[in-house]
This record gives sequence, C-alpha cells and structure tokens, in this order.
Amino acid sequence: MRALTWHGTGDVRVDTVSDPEIINPRDAIIKITSTAICGSDLHLYDGVIPGVKPGDVLGHEFMGEVVETGSDSNLKKGQRVVVPFTISCGGCFHCKQQQYSACDNSNPVEKQDMSATLYGQPMSALFGYSHLTGGYSGGQAEYVRVPFSDVGPIVIPDHLEDDQVLFLSDILPTGWMGAENADIQPDDTVAVWGCGPVGLFAIQSAIVMGASKVIAIDHYPNRLALAKQLGAQTIDFRETDVREALMEMSGGIGVDAVIDAVGMESHGFAIDNMIDIVKQKVGMGFDRASALKQAILAVRFGGKVSIPGVYGGMSDKWPLGAMMEKGLQIRGGQTHVQKYTEDLLAKIEDGTLDTTFLISHRLPLEQAAEGYKNFREQQNEWTKVILKPGMENCS
Ligand SMILES: NC(=O)c1ccc[n+]([C@@H]2O[C@H](COP(=O)([O-])OP(=O)(O)OC[C@H]3O[C@@H](n4cnc5c(N)ncnc54)[C@H](O)[C@@H]3O)[C@@H](O)[C@H]2O)c1
Ligand SMILES: [Zn+2]
Ligand SMILES: [Zn+2]
Repeated sequence: MRALTWHGTGDVRVDTVSDPEIINPRDAIIKITSTAICGSDLHLYDGVIPGVKPGDVLGHEFMGEVVETGSDSNLKKGQRVVVPFTISCGGCFHCKQQQYSACDNSNPVEKQDMSATLYGQPMSALFGYSHLTGGYSGGQAEYVRVPFSDVGPIVIPDHLEDDQVLFLSDILPTGWMGAENADIQPDDTVAVWGCGPVGLFAIQSAIVMGASKVIAIDHYPNRLALAKQLGAQTIDFRETDVREALMEMSGGIGVDAVIDAVGMESHGFAIDNMIDIVKQKVGMGFDRASALKQAILAVRFGGKVSIPGVYGGMSDKWPLGAMMEKGLQIRGGQTHVQKYTEDLLAKIEDGTLDTTFLISHRLPLEQAAEGYKNFREQQNEWTKVILKPGMENCS
C-alpha cells in the first residue's frame, strides 16, 4: 500500500510499504477515506520528538471503512468509523477512569524505557507518533491496523460527511478538553495562545461552555480572523505587548483562565525563546515554552492554566515562583479522546459545533509531503490539511 513515511527532519515521503494485517483478535483493518496533518505531526517533521525511525508511517487523525476484523472486534465490515489517536485497552486502571491517554496496556514493554525515565512512568501508545509511544504505524496511508478496535473507533451515520466528523479523531476533543481543563465559569475571561486548529476548537468550546470573553493570541492574520469569526477578541503578539493588553482587557487583575494551544515550538523573539530555539536545534533540549511562560504570568492569582499544547521533555528558566505564589490550578495531557467522542458527535449533529470552517486544503495522499511543507511554512493560509487516498492529483 502507499503511505506517508518519515525519513529525517523535514523529509517525509509517500512510499510503498507492506499492507497491515490482523495480529490480535481485537484488531480491525480500516481503509482510509480521510486523514489530516496535525500540529503534533509538525513536531515529528521538525525532529523535536525523539524516537522516530526512518520508514515509520505517520498519521494519527484518520477515518475510513472497516474492511477486516479480528475475532474479538465488535466492528462490522463496511462500517464507517473515526478512530481516536490514543490507543487504549478499555480495561486497565486508567481506562476504567476514562483516562484513555494514560492506558497501561497499549505501549509494548520494550518501548517503555525512554518515557518511563522522562516522566516517571511509561507513556501510553498513540498512532504514528514515534517509538516513544509504541511505534504503531499511523493512518496517513491507504490502510491501517487498529488495535483494541472494540474500544476506540466510533461508528459514523451515513448522512454525515467525512469533513464534519474527521476531527473527532483528535483536534476537536483536544480543543474541548483544553477548555474543560480551564474549568470555565460563566463570567470567566479566557485567553487562548495559538490559533491553529487546536486553539480554534478550544475557543469554540470555551464559548459553548459559557465563557463571557475569549481572547485569542497569534500572529497570523488569517488564523486570527478565524478566531474573530468564532466570537473571540484578538491580539497579534508581534504588534502588541500581550501581558499589558490582557491586564487591560481583564479589569487589571489578569485573566481567569489561560489555554496554551501552542506547545513546544513557540514562535517569538523573547530572549528565553531565542536561547531555547538554539538549544532545540542542537539537541540540548526539547521544549520552547515561551507561550506557556507568558500565559502563567498573565493569568490572575488563583487562576486556571490548561495545557493542550504538546511538550516532550525539560524546560529551564521556568516561572516556578509565579506558579506557586499565584495558587494556580494547572492541567494538561494527551487527550482522553474516547471519553468525548459520543458527546461531541451529538454536538456536531445538532449544529452546536462546526468543524469544517478551518479546513483550508484537501490533497491526495500522494501529495502529502507538499501538505507537510506548506502546513509548516505557510501557516497563515494553510490552517488544516486533509489528505485523501485515491483523490486525483491537484496542481
Ligand atoms: N494534548 C493533545 O492531545 C494534543 C492533540 C493535538 C495537538 N496537540 C498540540 O497542540 C498544539 C497546537 O496544535 P495545532 O495543530 O493547532 O498546531 P499549529 O502549529 O497549526 O498551531 C500553533 C499556532 O500557535 C501559534 N503560536 C506560536 N507561537 C506563539 C506564541 N508565542 N503566542 C501565540 N501563538 C503562538 C502559531 O502561529 C500557530 O498558529 C501543538 O503543540 C500540538 O502538538 C495536542
Ligand atoms: Zn493531531
Ligand atoms: Zn487501558
């Protein structure tokens, strides 16, 4: 089959690789109809996540048709399903508490050492996201093997288009959990760093949850315009001093809640960020946490900090004093996707949430490398890229 494979920093290619096969009774094989490129994929593309190997098939946002099932899968051939990016067994201590992205059983023991050293305990598995998270092949491909297919995939009714539901695989639940982790109360002013897909869905979710004011921060005019269209006020961090503006917009006490939807590749010319860029380039550190540090300083005393943005390792020059002295509530994590899919599917069906407004480009899978390059280098115009196996090439 054809699949998008990683070959090094900035080097991804569509190659011919072996077809996936059923290995365990709970597996299913899905024929991909739509798959997306995520900001998280850019961290792999940019070489800032360790443990990716040449030839690895990427992709963790995908949906398609069930074409084969193991004896213990409850899926049926021909069903259309969206597959969560988190691989979860459904029966372990964490899965039973709906902490699906902390599943104890999905990351094979031989892959656990690096994350156990970094985080104290090993990470759970994710599709197409390095050998740190299990080394499973991803779904930017014609076919994918889905382990624990009785726990993850959600069956989609025929009247909904792929574009409407694809993002249930990751970014919609991630934006929603990002807002939920900000513990939004009706009068809250919420500031969101990053107006990529995750930030935009966090903004939409915060508004649905009843935030009285949402402030979006980025520097791409087109992305800021999408945030405004959703109902947010906007700040361009290249033109405005963010902390001063937020103090003014929150009556002088700081915003109630902050959401970091930027993650480990923060842009900007703050001195700490410039040092972190150099350290990241020479492999002396994984994380550029400039946006998160700014968020911690901008939130009010007793405020809430939500971190859907991905970080991998260690960060220095950390505002530890502010974190402690301000009495902050801090929550993050890979999204517990399976916890949210049913409720969010209902919200798509009844029109509470629109998921299609951010799609800027649709490309055939064969042009996936071009999709990565443009999503990385032309972020203003390329807000979200969907890849479709079998689609005619476009110029
Ligand atoms: N927790 C999860 O389970 C999960 C799931 C999906 C994605 N993510 C993470 O969420 C983050 C965002 O994903 P995305 O797909 O929206 O990525 P993206 O790269 O499309 O968007 C990031 C945005 O942040 C903006 N930005 C950069 N530096 C900034 C700064 N200093 N202040 C304000 N804005 C700044 C960029 O201009 C860009 O628009 C990534 O780190 C991704 O890995 C996490
Ligand atoms: Zn993703
Ligand atoms: Zn589990």
